[in-house]
Amino acid sequence: MNVLIIGSGGREHALCWAVHKSPLLTKLYCAPGNGGIVDLAECLAIDTGDHQAVINFCKHAEIGLVVIGPEDPLAAGLGDDLRASGVPVFGPSAAAARLESSKGFMKDLCVANNIPTAGYARFRDPAAAAAHIRTRGAPIVVKADGLAAGKGVTVAMTEDEALAAVVDCLGGRFGQAGAEVVIEEFLEGEEASFFVISDGKTVVPFGTAQDHKRAFDNDRGPNTGGMGAYSPAPIMTDAMVARAMDEIITPTINAMAAVSTPFQGVLYAGLMITDTGPKLIEYNVRFGDPECQVLMMRLESDMLEILAATSAGRLDPALVSWKDDAALTIVLATQGYPGAYETGSQIAGIGGDDDTGMIFHAGTRRDGDRLVASGGRVLNVTARGKTVREAKDKAYARLANVDWPEGFYRNDIGWRAIAREEEI
Ligand code: AMP
Ligand code: GLY
Repeated sequence: MNVLIIGSGGREHALCWAVHKSPLLTKLYCAPGNGGIVDLAECLAIDTGDHQAVINFCKHAEIGLVVIGPEDPLAAGLGDDLRASGVPVFGPSAAAARLESSKGFMKDLCVANNIPTAGYARFRDPAAAAAHIRTRGAPIVVKADGLAAGKGVTVAMTEDEALAAVVDCLGGRFGQAGAEVVIEEFLEGEEASFFVISDGKTVVPFGTAQDHKRAFDNDRGPNTGGMGAYSPAPIMTDAMVARAMDEIITPTINAMAAVSTPFQGVLYAGLMITDTGPKLIEYNVRFGDPECQVLMMRLESDMLEILAATSAGRLDPALVSWKDDAALTIVLATQGYPGAYETGSQIAGIGGDDDTGMIFHAGTRRDGDRLVASGGRVLNVTARGKTVREAKDKAYARLANVDWPEGFYRNDIGWRAIAREEEI
């Protein structure tokens, strides 16, 4: 089978790496890809916003499956247009992608189906939003309704901060995505990421992870797309996974099917594990980045077979099996990220990949024989080990060989899981 993967991040490098191992693969393409993906796939300079151009390529190259990595092309309906032209796709329709692209839609679905989530109200009028904040008090959470590249959420510790976030959002900071705000109750607990794959009817758990959103050690500094991750998340015991499936995931998949917008693809639930059980913070309709990197490191089974079966509506739990090992990934980012940063610096010392340790590329490109940084998040140093501690030690040992003075990373990836491992 010929396969096209859409995207250019560490997530897509990890997906290419997993799919590349499959005996079902004939030829792999990636659009646009990056400086690491070029070793596994033919990288294409197609504009993925031009759906007809993608369709034309798929017909010409006899693509048997398109896998869409990021949320933007999903929300823009690339999956719908490809399917309408007869091209099989892994990834939800634009209608099903509203679970991520509209927080208001997601929250209303939760209420209608008794899915535990933070209490909330939706506003377009700044005065009404401000009155609500004054009644409720802080801490309180203010979110832009639409896709805001991870920047649309303010966890406000004071009323003033919350009021400022409303003015910012309804004032146009996020454009159309912020025309409505969702104001939420502040939840306390430990966060975990829970992944499932669904073909619209059958739903199969697909691993757990914990992310590190802040830029610097000890969870300080600005929020980022993620500075590291590990899998599995120790807090997601079998019993907690079962509760999340029964109370959150299954009702969601059933509700989407019931209104004729079945969810096909990977559904990523951001959960808060509270004193009373798991509550849904948010849905993403795609793999996490960098969470995907650790999941692919742990996957035992054939990823392409899983993706193709899902897109064909014949997902079977027996297709999915995992290695017992833990995996951990450390993100190397360009100094300045998530603010302004320079591109074009040279990276060296990244050789030595194998099945237990991979450096997945995100913002890199090849410039002749040189590898150069071309983005904010640049490399994901990923390793597998018997424990999170072992995976962490391997990943940091590998990272010490990377020669890239313009980069930075966190030194404490995995701290929460390791503290738990060492308590026992
Ligand atoms: P989101 O983009 O919705 O995942 O929000 C980003 C981050 O904000 C989450 O990972 C949480 O750390 C935090 N957050 C979002 N909603 C809440 C909430 N209701 N209570 C506490 N923290 C929240
Ligand atoms: N790492 C968080 C995300 O992909 O949304």
